[in-house]
Amino acid sequence: MKQTRRQFLRASAAFSVAAIAPHRLFAQNVGFVPLTAQTASMQLAPEGYAKTDIWGYDGVMPGATIRVQQGARVQRQFINALPQASSVHWHGIRIANAMDGVAGLTQAAVAPGETFDYDFAVPDAGTYWFHAHNRSTEQVARGLYGALIVEENAAPDVDRDEVLIVDDWLLNPETAQLDADFEVAHDRSHAGRNGNFIATNGDFEFSTDVKKGDRLRLRLINAANARIFVLSLVGLEGWAMAYDGMPLAQPVRIDGQFPLAPGQRVDLFVDVTADIGESAYLVRTLNGENMAQATFPVTAAGTRTTRAVPEALPPNPNMDIGDLTNARMLTLNMEGGAMGRLDAAILDGERRTFRQLADANQFWSFNGVIGMTDTPLASLARGETVRLTIKNDTSFPHAMHMHGMHFREVSEDGQLGPMRDTLLSFAGQSNEIAFVADNPGKWLLHCHMLSHAASGMMTWLDVA
Ligand code: C2O
Ligand code: CU
Repeated sequence: MKQTRRQFLRASAAFSVAAIAPHRLFAQNVGFVPLTAQTASMQLAPEGYAKTDIWGYDGVMPGATIRVQQGARVQRQFINALPQASSVHWHGIRIANAMDGVAGLTQAAVAPGETFDYDFAVPDAGTYWFHAHNRSTEQVARGLYGALIVEENAAPDVDRDEVLIVDDWLLNPETAQLDADFEVAHDRSHAGRNGNFIATNGDFEFSTDVKKGDRLRLRLINAANARIFVLSLVGLEGWAMAYDGMPLAQPVRIDGQFPLAPGQRVDLFVDVTADIGESAYLVRTLNGENMAQATFPVTAAGTRTTRAVPEALPPNPNMDIGDLTNARMLTLNMEGGAMGRLDAAILDGERRTFRQLADANQFWSFNGVIGMTDTPLASLARGETVRLTIKNDTSFPHAMHMHGMHFREVSEDGQLGPMRDTLLSFAGQSNEIAFVADNPGKWLLHCHMLSHAASGMMTWLDVA
């Protein structure tokens, strides 16, 4: 029988697919760098104390910084060598939903011994981070996080670029080991799990030499479970350039203290004004005391003379949220916690009294509901503009983080604030945020005080 042209085409198509497939697979896998979550130990407490057992990416905390150019692709083969299932979330990256790393929502948790390939493009330049997103209260506290830095395609005029991840740990002062009870009811119902040991990049006396007159880019990331850092500068003068990765339209002069809530980032451009032989500092204020969060000994004169106010960083794509007049209005009431007024809320589909909720170690509700539900807080049409009022009817601050899309705060006079992914809401406050639901998928919206998220403050948005 003569082969018809059509049969031949079909056969050769099948042949070429078969011939190409292994090759293509190979080409794809070549880019994948392993990222292994594993147990390790490190000298966290001062010399003389035992090493602290941690969980870290590739055995270190923080994990090695991932640094890529804007628009590049990140490919990591996550390997779970932990005794517990895990996943990796790429905080602040406007990512494809399937790569967002939320165990139980966008993927199944990766079991011990299993792997998961993360493969995504980074649309936005700026300071981002990655961290575990399964049992986060425990896994982030144990050390599973690192910085993800996306560089602008034209390098800004700075002499140094430093990633400073601030965190605290709850250590046993005798053994220097992490307190392994991650479900303490008091932490959950109050301000969250706060540590007694504070450091930068895992180093409680973090220090790096600088030159007088140098312009430093400091990329601050708060990886703490619950602590709001109150920071200021000494011997450094400069500007905030970006919040949560997103460039500010105009640099904002740093004057006095500024807060950095869990999950938040700020990019600073600062000039070293301290004299040679002295030190400049990033200072944290805690209980009225000022302590060095990072020390910058000034060892020499820089080669540059003092520079002018920096130009704003180039904007990222899709930072405009357009007209709000026809926006969909949504409300999120946050209730519960100690000294709150929550009498009852829905847990697992049933109405429970606050007493019953406390017995279940659940304390916080969003719109009267505790924790994740099968139905989202809202189903949004792709491209829809949303105004979301977040009412904090609790006695504690909360750091509300939205996955997949950034938002802008809407002030009372209707002005739009900087674009962010994590909003610090203070007790009794009401804040309005606005965003365009331009990223399809299931996106988590939760408090980044991780004990709060684990005890109720978690919901999601569905963008179809
Ligand atoms: Cu930084 Cu839901 O996470
Ligand atoms: Cu909270």
